[in-house]
This record gives sequence, C-alpha cells and structure tokens, in this order.
Amino acid sequence: MTKIVTVPTTPFEGQAPGTSGLRKKVRVFQQPNYAENFIQSVFDVVERPQGSVLVIGGDGRFHNRDVIQQAIRMAAANGYGRVLVGQGGILSTPAASNVIRKYGASGGLILSASHNPGGPDEDFGIKYNIANGGPAPESVTGAILARTKEIDRWLTVEAADVDLDAPGETAVGEMTVEVIDPVADYADLMEELFDFDAIRKAVSSGFTMRFDAMSAVTGPYAVEILENRLGFAAGTVVNGTPLEDFGGHHPDPNLIHAKELYDLMMGPDAPDLGAASDGDGDRNLIIGRGRFVTPSDSLAMLAANIEIAPAYRGRLSGIARSMPTSAAADRVAEALGVPCFETPTGWKFFGNLLDAGKVTICGEESAGTGSDHVREKDGLWAVLLWLNILAVRDISVDQLARTHWARFGRNYYARHDYEAIDSEAAAGLMRELKAALATLPGQAFGPLTVSHADSFAYTDPVDHSVSENQGIRVLFEDGSRVVFRLSGTGTQGATLRVYLERYEPASGQLDADTGVMLEAQIAAAQEIAGITRHTGRGAPDVVT
Ligand code: G1P
Ligand code: ZN
Repeated sequence: MTKIVTVPTTPFEGQAPGTSGLRKKVRVFQQPNYAENFIQSVFDVVERPQGSVLVIGGDGRFHNRDVIQQAIRMAAANGYGRVLVGQGGILSTPAASNVIRKYGASGGLILSASHNPGGPDEDFGIKYNIANGGPAPESVTGAILARTKEIDRWLTVEAADVDLDAPGETAVGEMTVEVIDPVADYADLMEELFDFDAIRKAVSSGFTMRFDAMSAVTGPYAVEILENRLGFAAGTVVNGTPLEDFGGHHPDPNLIHAKELYDLMMGPDAPDLGAASDGDGDRNLIIGRGRFVTPSDSLAMLAANIEIAPAYRGRLSGIARSMPTSAAADRVAEALGVPCFETPTGWKFFGNLLDAGKVTICGEESAGTGSDHVREKDGLWAVLLWLNILAVRDISVDQLARTHWARFGRNYYARHDYEAIDSEAAAGLMRELKAALATLPGQAFGPLTVSHADSFAYTDPVDHSVSENQGIRVLFEDGSRVVFRLSGTGTQGATLRVYLERYEPASGQLDADTGVMLEAQIAAAQEIAGITRHTGRGAPDVVT
C-alpha cells in the first residue's frame, strides 16, 4: 500500500546543518507524515540490497514505541527482509552499533535524542547508522536531507503492531521481525574485550563503585554486566530502570545533571569509582574518590593504558579526538609514537579512521569515548576500560591521574555553554568573529597574545572529503587556546559553546583550580567574541 503525501513536511527545517540525525520536540514528531517523511527518505537513498536486515532500537523515551511500529510497517513495504528490534524497543546506541555489525545489517534506525530530556513536551530524535555500525557520514545525511524536501509519498503495509515485549519472530507483510535480547550481545562483546577476572578479583577484595544510569537506557546493561557478571553488590547501579521521561531529569552525565553522584564522590562515603551514562548510553562520566576526570583527560589516560585490556594488547594504532577536545591525548600519542588525528565535532568523523585501522581509540570533550569495537561512542565500554586498568594496576583514579600528569603534564580545560540564545544573535557573533580572524594574530588580550586564528576545516584522510566551518580556533603564544562553535544538537534557539584550554608542563602546577588557571582565557574569549554584547548574557549557563 502506498500513502500519497501531497504537502511534504520538511523535517529538518530550523535544525542546525550537518547534524547526523533529526532531533525535535515530541509534538513535532507526532505531526502526520513527519517521522514517515524522514524514514522514507532514508529508505529511498541509503544502500540496502533487496532483502536486507534493518536494526531498530531506541533509548526508551516517550514516543519510542510509536515510531518503532511505524518504521517496522514501512520497512516491510520497502523491501527489507528482516528487522531486528530490541525487546521493549530498547537498544543503547553502542549496542545497536554492535547488532548492526554482528548480524550484517545494511543499517539501523536509532531512536534517541541522546542526553536531552524526554516526555510528551520534551525531545525525540531519529538517526540512521550505516552498515559499519556508525552514524551516516555527511554524504549520506546530505542525500537524506535533500530527499526530505522533495518526497511526495511514503510506503507502508497494513499490519497490526508487533508485540515488542515478546522475544521471537513475527511476520509483517513479507518481512520477518525478530524481537531480540537488547543486552546479551553487548554484554558478551564487553566480556571478550576486557579482563573480567581481574575486575572480579578487585571487586572481591573490596573495590566498590556506583553507576548512575540516570533512568535511561543503560540500566539493564549495567545491572547485567556490573552486578550479574562482575559481582558488584546489588544496588551498585542506581536509577537502573529506563523511564519514558527519565524521571523528569536531563540524562546528561555531567557535573550539573549528575550532581548527586558528584557530591557522593567528593564526600566521606565515596566508593572507589563513580560513573554515569546518558539517555542512549553512548556518553560516560568518570569520577574517582575525590577526583573528577575531565573527558579530555579520560581519553588521554585510557589511551595511555589501553593495552592493559586483553583485546587491545599490542594494538594501539592511533588516537583521534575532536578539535575542541583538549590536546592531552596528543601528548600520549607522541610519547607512544602513534599518530593523533584532530577531527570535527561528531562521532561520524571517526568512522573512516576506525574502518581504515588508523586509530584504535577516539574521544570527544563532551563525555564520549570509544574504540574500534563498534562505531559509536560507548559509555559502559569506557567505564569497563577504567575498571580493567584500575584493577590490573591496583591504583586509585586519583593516583592514576596524578601519575599521568607527572609524566605528560596537564591540560586544564573547561567548556562554557550559553544555551537557548537568540539564533540571529548567535549567527551574528560567529559571523563577526569569522570576519575578524585575519586581524587577530599579534593582538594582545590581557596577558595573552594571539598567535593564530582560523575557522577549522577538515580533510578526511581516507575519502578526502572536506568539512568546513567546524568552529573558530584562537591560539595564543603561550600554547593556550579558545574555541567557539554553535551546537548542532540543541532544539531551542542556539547554543554557543566556548572551549578553554591551557597546558601546564609536568614541572608546573598540576593540582591547581581549573577556573583560576583559565581566568585569562575566559576573559580573552569574552573580549574576542563580544559574548555579552551579542547575547546579553553575562555568564554561561553550564560550565563543564
Ligand atoms: C554535542 C557534543 C558533540 C557530540 C554531540 C552528539 O554536539 O558537543 O561532541 O558529538 O553532542 O553527542 P553539539 O551540541 O556541540 O553540536
Ligand atoms: Zn548520547
């Protein structure tokens, strides 16, 4: 059966360009033909031989089940042979990536708005991942976007809803739908990568942790892996049941939204490790007893120790980080004699490097870390790699951090977010900044003198595709820097992100206050971009 849509909706309208999926309010998604337009546009342009396997899963947020039923009927009408869907409609983003790879699917639909809040008045999202398990690259997302503007029909079959809670197979039209265990394949993969025996031994000698699943998708994964397979005490995983509205919280594992965990870790009753993951399970937060580890530092520390984990022994080929991520990982790469790649923001830019074997581990300052085991960042993976390293080295998070800085020096780092600012004002700020780039070198801002300023452009070393306008970089003569870019994932107005970084050598101050260390960079960023003048804001909304 073919449904004719006479007035095409344009789902991407108003969304920042270059994002790998569609992310809007639930109410927007509930409009007739809206999600269907996006899904049909995907099916119209992506590579998928007749009879292909499609993976569907989401983070369990409100509206997840409705879109899954729509997508199943549409997949049947579009010639897919088989759909694999997680039980209850659940698949964390890294687990979906693994299922796509493991079962040779041509791709997958991941339903999530990541760390954004959920519920009838909050956010929803859909993105498409390709056969390597990773987010579709720009060539594909560009084709999807173009297709959404011209599409005039979508295809579906008449069929009852599939029971998403009952494991097993159902026929929908000519296609088979299989409801799979969302956790088992992923937990098995983790067991292959890491030394579970070493971790179990540490646990039985008293190593403790708390994992905050933030009422989001990682609860069932964390309970199975941490409590059932590794032997951590029952109750180690908190907020472990996925809720449609995440309990009314932002499932974003940072110091603001995971404040309770942070307070616990800084207090007298702290366990050895505190960790959290986001709505769809791809981000991670790592806090040791009395020691928060920035995501940029976590990437560097994990890279320096990754060969401790069995599946990575003798196998570190290179490291990649997004441009705004601190250069801490670069110092590790240099010391270990492996290349370090600097990519634009967004996991999709790591895909080619991972596929080509040029890098083994990669990460972003926004709490994303991952490796070549899947093609998404992976929150629990990062937690397990930390556990593996701490167990084998028999060291605390704080000790590991101090040892690391004493060897490589420390990159003091912070990100300041100005959220929901006027889109025009934000565009004006970036436009003015870009126009002034050539005049910046040589100018002094307080104690800092600009040595170089540019708009970051990236040429993919594998397919040579070029991505321009990926953020404004201003480097200073002392090696510190500030970076400005607009978020591509917000759903309200614009979000300006200002990234601040300063390197302190191993002989310098390794345990100073980050805010104090970055005072000059913060003042310079304000002056260079005229943040208050453009946005009316005197201070950032979120500092991470
Ligand atoms: C944010 C992060 C970015 C990450 C993305 C998806 O994007 O900054 O590192 O890849 O979420 O999780 P942004 O809102 O900055 O465009
Ligand atoms: Zn996420």
